Amino acid sequence: MLDKVEHIALAVADLDAAIDHYETIWGLRVSHRERVEDQGVEEAMLPVGESHLQLLGSTGPDTTVGKFLERRGEGLHHIAFQVEDLEGTLTRLKEQGVALIDERPRVGGRGHMVAFVHPKGNHGVLVELIQRPARAAGQH
Ligand code: CO
Repeated sequence: MLDKVEHIALAVADLDAAIDHYETIWGLRVSHRERVEDQGVEEAMLPVGESHLQLLGSTGPDTTVGKFLERRGEGLHHIAFQVEDLEGTLTRLKEQGVALIDERPRVGGRGHMVAFVHPKGNHGVLVELIQRPARAAGQH
């Protein structure tokens, strides 16, 4: 059901400072940076092997990440798993009574289809499910 850990997301108070830290101290490099205005986040992706570290800054105090930082401070925000069939996975989770934040897939960062699973039904961990990008015909 789960293909791989696509990224691990950390909420950070100062995105530029956090990027500088992970590049200087850990030798990572930003491959993608994006501001998603309607979600109130600015995110940076830093590849680690086949996965990524995602640094998540907020665009203001009244956003989801802004409130998270206020309540809990910096730290682990969510884990993102890549799945082959997002719709099917959501249907299965609903049948099993798992609380979902997104009942339907929506467009997330990098244009991927995503859905979030509520931490209360998942031992306190916010999980993001990401649809595996469709491969072009002929590629395997
Ligand atoms: Co994410």
